[in-house]
Amino acid sequence: MKELKIKAYAKINLTLDVLGKRADGYHELQTIMQTIDLADIITLRELNQGIKIVSSSLQIPTDEKNLAYQAAQLIKSRAGIEKGIEIRIEKNIPVMAGLAGGSTDAAATLVGLNNLWELDFSEAELWEMAARLGSDVAFCLNGGTCLAEGRGEILKPLNPPPPLWLVLVKPQIGVSTAQVYRSLSLDRIGRRPSQSAMIKALEDGDPRKIAENLVNVLETVTLEMHPSLAVIKEEMMSLGALGALMSGSGPSIFALTSAAEAAQAIAEKMEKSLKEVFVTTTLGRLEKRFLR
Ligand code: C5P
Repeated sequence: MKELKIKAYAKINLTLDVLGKRADGYHELQTIMQTIDLADIITLRELNQGIKIVSSSLQIPTDEKNLAYQAAQLIKSRAGIEKGIEIRIEKNIPVMAGLAGGSTDAAATLVGLNNLWELDFSEAELWEMAARLGSDVAFCLNGGTCLAEGRGEILKPLNPPPPLWLVLVKPQIGVSTAQVYRSLSLDRIGRRPSQSAMIKALEDGDPRKIAENLVNVLETVTLEMHPSLAVIKEEMMSLGALGALMSGSGPSIFALTSAAEAAQAIAEKMEKSLKEVFVTTTLGRLEKRFLR
């Protein structure tokens, strides 16, 4: 039976602005998304029939609620494939964290099955399927650095910065993305990001300027719900981070640092009070993601 292994990378949002509410209930976004070197490992193995999700993580659904299941179902029906598939998910990305963990598993399933079954779906066809599955899935197909608009599915690739060293923490708090968007008052948004200033800072590869432009308008909402997140941000700043920001709707917070050693030192301190702490870097567009 055919088998393939593919890495499914997490993302962070370097900026996130909400421009308004749309007729379809979603919000109109402008966000700079960035792939980071933290990935789930997805193993796809052909079965005679059906879709089966297997995972060591007890935190993710193994039925059709899992986006990877929906991705397999969609691409199978588009291609008219009768064969089944086992999707094994080695979960390294924190769950419900604002890191697109579910979306990236779905994107990797689309890319992986396109390859495993030699389906020859074009980039545009994969994009259309991805956008249907969720707001962040399209970005996760190719990753890198992108300005995303619409619901987050309209992507403009940007030149990736040189690898930036990050500390990422996932506090043990559950955040519902839908609830965060519901609680956002558009007329109460304070500082908005300058996308052009961030794009310039990324082009210059200047970590200090990138840090100055880290702004996420959802942060105030989630930090009001969970004041402990503000304490974490302050702690990372006092430990020497250049900047710190919540990713997506939270609750993950990342700190930008100037070098690996600085990131390691901050992580060691944060590990005293938090279980999920990662030192990682930003990545360019995903090319070598198949493991065998
Ligand atoms: O598309 P996805 O399932 O990731 O979105 C989760 C929820 O976040 C949506 O149901 C919606 O409530 C909210 N959302 C939004 N505007 C967006 C993206 C997400 O309101 N652009």
